[in-house]
Amino acid sequence: MIDLSQVLKQTIEVAESAGVFIRKERQTFDVKSVEQKGLNDLVSYVDKEAEKMIVEGLSKILPGSDFITEEGTAQTEGKEFTWIIDPLDGTTNFIHGLPIFAVSIGLRHLDEIILGVVYEINFHECFYALKGKGAFCNGTPIKVSKAANLGESLIATGFPYSAFNQIDAYLDALKMLMQKTHGIRRLGSAAMDLCYVAAGRADGFFEFNLKPYDVAAGALIVKEAGGMVTDFRQGDDYLFGREILASNGLIHQEFDALLQDVWD
Ligand code: IPD
Ligand code: CA
Ligand code: CA
Ligand code: CA
Repeated sequence: MIDLSQVLKQTIEVAESAGVFIRKERQTFDVKSVEQKGLNDLVSYVDKEAEKMIVEGLSKILPGSDFITEEGTAQTEGKEFTWIIDPLDGTTNFIHGLPIFAVSIGLRHLDEIILGVVYEINFHECFYALKGKGAFCNGTPIKVSKAANLGESLIATGFPYSAFNQIDAYLDALKMLMQKTHGIRRLGSAAMDLCYVAAGRADGFFEFNLKPYDVAAGALIVKEAGGMVTDFRQGDDYLFGREILASNGLIHQEFDALLQDVWD
């Protein structure tokens, strides 16, 4: 029988030590070392080294588990447990020295995410959750906001790097949200967008074209903080489905209706 609270403690240690490495590398980081994986899709040796450290650390916690990772350090084979890792979420912020970038680690048991850890490196905030046990930031329980409608809400989002075929629908959504809400923020890290919804610092978040490692940990943290996470059609295909809508629950229907109006 696996002691999940022990697994969580060890996962936090792995995330934080990768964070120490990333923070240290940032001090001497040279933008010339940046590589491009695709249009506006940047990566550095820091992402890759951090991922190796994380995979090595997590392999010791649950030997024989699978991995889904952004930089491809390890592969999945259909095992019972899968770690879903983004070693550095917010690479563009990191490269430019703009705060808000994080290590994100989710653990899936069969088809269900059961553990999430997101460690924000600049503000030393570690957000985490175990399924059914609530969500926390640095040991303190967190809860989603009480905003009752879009009119009282601050909305986070991410601009797509590609998939520009959907750009018009996306811009329509922004246009409407701009007029209806307190404002829109683009923080540069989907994992942190989700954690800030969980902590009540934003009331909702939506983005398309994300990958499982961007959202696995953060989505569990939102749900455990009392929020709601769906795709754009009220379904639950947000892990692999590349559409995510997260909110405090109270504004979810209104938010979703607005997206459905503009989305195909
Ligand atoms: C990115 C961030 C960003 C989102 C991008 C992601 P990365 O992840 O989460 O907020 O808008 O779509 O790819 O590349 O910094 O790990
Ligand atoms: Ca990336
Ligand atoms: Ca990411
Ligand atoms: Ca990344």
